[in-house]
Amino acid sequence: MDTVNQFSTPLSDITAEVDLAFNYMGWISLFLLLGITLTMIFFVVRFHRGRARKTKQIEGHFWLEVTWIVLPTLLVTWMFWIGYRGFLLIRTVPEGAMVVKVTGMQWSWSFYYPEEGITSTEMTVPVNTPVKVEITAPPDDVIHSFYIPDFRVKEDAVPGKETYLWFESKRTGEFNIFCAEYCGKDHAQMISMLHVVSEEDYGKWIKAQIARKYKPLEFAGLADPDDPVFGPEDLNIDSARLYRNYCASCHGAAGDGSGLPGVARDFNDLPNWKKTNRITDIYRTLAEGIKGTQMRAFPNFTPWEKVALGHQVRRFIREGLQPVTEDDYAELVAQYELDKMQGPGETIPVEKAIELLTGEAGDRPEVEAAQPDQAGSEQ
Ligand code: CUA
Repeated sequence: MDTVNQFSTPLSDITAEVDLAFNYMGWISLFLLLGITLTMIFFVVRFHRGRARKTKQIEGHFWLEVTWIVLPTLLVTWMFWIGYRGFLLIRTVPEGAMVVKVTGMQWSWSFYYPEEGITSTEMTVPVNTPVKVEITAPPDDVIHSFYIPDFRVKEDAVPGKETYLWFESKRTGEFNIFCAEYCGKDHAQMISMLHVVSEEDYGKWIKAQIARKYKPLEFAGLADPDDPVFGPEDLNIDSARLYRNYCASCHGAAGDGSGLPGVARDFNDLPNWKKTNRITDIYRTLAEGIKGTQMRAFPNFTPWEKVALGHQVRRFIREGLQPVTEDDYAELVAQYELDKMQGPGETIPVEKAIELLTGEAGDRPEVEAAQPDQAGSEQ
C-alpha cells in the first residue's frame, strides 16, 4: 500500500475523505478487538473456577453505566458524522462540473463527451476540474459497475437508468477503470484507462478527437482493386484492437464465432450470412445492427472506425472475398452522407484535420511510451 501518497498528497478530496473514514474505523475496530479480547483473556484467567470465591450481588453502578452508554454513543455518532460528511461530498457534484457520459456494455466501456459530441474507449479529463460521470447501460444489457479505485468512486451502471458519480483529480496521471460487478464471461476484461492530463493537453486531445470523428471521408484512392484489404495505417485506426475490444467476445479472436458458439457469426460461414461480405454491408451491419439477432448497432463508432472494422472482419474471410470498389465507397457516402460531416461549432478543413490527426502521437509521448497497446486508438 502506498501510504505516502495516501496521507501526504491525496489524489482528490473524495480520496482523502474515504481514506480518513476507512482508517479511523479500521483503527477503532482494531482497538476494540484487542481491548475486548485481552480483557476476556484476563477475565478467564483471573476468574478461573479454581480461584473463584462467592461474590456479593451487584445491583448497579451509576457511573459505569453512564460511561458505557455515553462513550459508545459519542463514538458511533462521530463515526456516522465522518461517513455522512464523506457521503455528502461524494453525492454533491460541484456546479459547473464537466460531464462525461459512460455506457457499460458486455464487455467494454464507452465514454461520450456531450459538449464535443465525441466518443472514446478510454477516458481523458483535465486536471483540477470536477468531472461528473453520468453512467448507464443499454436497456438489453446487464448491470455493471463503474469503478476508479484510485479516486475511491464506484457506481452501478444499470440498464435503462442513469446513475452518477464525480471526482476531481489534483494530479495528472494514468488510472485504472474497472467493472466491479460480475457481468458475464468477459467481466475481467472490462477494463479501461483514465488519463488525467493538463488543461492544454486536454484541449489538444479534444481537437484531435473532433478532427478524427468529423474528418470528411475521402475514399478516392483508398479503393485499390488489387489490394482488397488495406492496413490500419491507411486510417490511423488500430482496427485489430477495436475488434478485440468490441467483437472478439462474441465472434471469437479468429472470427470463427467461438466467443458465443452457435449465436455469433463465423465470418467464414458465408452461405449463412444475412448480408454479403462487401464493405458496404459490413458497414451497414455496424451502423444499424441486424434485427432479430444479438448483433446490435454500434453508433459510437465513427465512420472511419466502421470502415476499418469492416476491413478487419474481411481479413478473416479466406474464400469468396468480394473486392472493394470505388462504387462501394460511393454508395456508403451517398447513403450515410459521409461527405457532409462537420464538427460541432467549427468546420475543420481536411488539411487541418489531417495535421491534427498526424500530430496527435506527439501530444502524449508519455502515454505512447507507457501504454503502447492502449494509446493512439481510443477513437
Ligand atoms: Cu461489466 Cu463486470
